[in-house]
Amino acid sequence: MSGLPHTIADDIKQVLLSAEAIEERVAELGRRVSADYAGKDVLLVCVLKGAMVFMADLIRHITIPVGIDTMAVTSYGAATVSSGVVRIVKDLDSPIAGKHVLIVEDIVDSGLTLNYLRTYLANRKPASVKVCTLLDKPERREAPVTPDYCGFEIPNLFVVGYGLDYQERYRNLPFVGIPHDYVWAKDSSQDIPDSTLQEV
Ligand code: IMP
Ligand code: MG
Repeated sequence: MSGLPHTIADDIKQVLLSAEAIEERVAELGRRVSADYAGKDVLLVCVLKGAMVFMADLIRHITIPVGIDTMAVTSYGAATVSSGVVRIVKDLDSPIAGKHVLIVEDIVDSGLTLNYLRTYLANRKPASVKVCTLLDKPERREAPVTPDYCGFEIPNLFVVGYGLDYQERYRNLPFVGIPHDYVWAKDSSQDIPDSTLQEV
């Protein structure tokens, strides 16, 4: 083998969505958001940390004036016993009453996090609350959440990259992919994620 250092891309078994495919789709979503929200007072809410890469690219394809804000949440959810209990780690910086809120998420899985967030924000009397997600795993849904904007529907597989992590790694991959099996084997739990406290 070469003497090159091991890269995060070396840990990826299969690229599911190339950087080019993502770029094209994000541009399309930006155009749709620009058209749908023209003339409205809109606030894009990035759900940290997973959505930060998507958010950064999406806003540069939005051509109307928008405000941006961030929230950070942790969800206690297990594959078998999803509680839907979400803790707000960082709330919005400013009020949203009367604004059109668009929640920007990395992925909707069980939907429990978004279901909670949507209700939480709706209580503050915004003009509307909608959801824009890069990825959607509809097979895993437990809460009644249908994203208003979705980049890609994907099968029930754990994916990383373009903001999405496994144990805080791989967020900086420019594409979305599936890690090699040895990645799961390396960690102490020997388990595919989602059974622990995770930052979304
Ligand atoms: P939900 O409440 O089950 O919809 O949780 C969604 C959160 O779980 C996302 O914001 C992600 O942080 C995390 N998540 C779910 N599926 C994946 C995945 O395939 N890769 C990385 N993170 C994931
Ligand atoms: Mg995560």
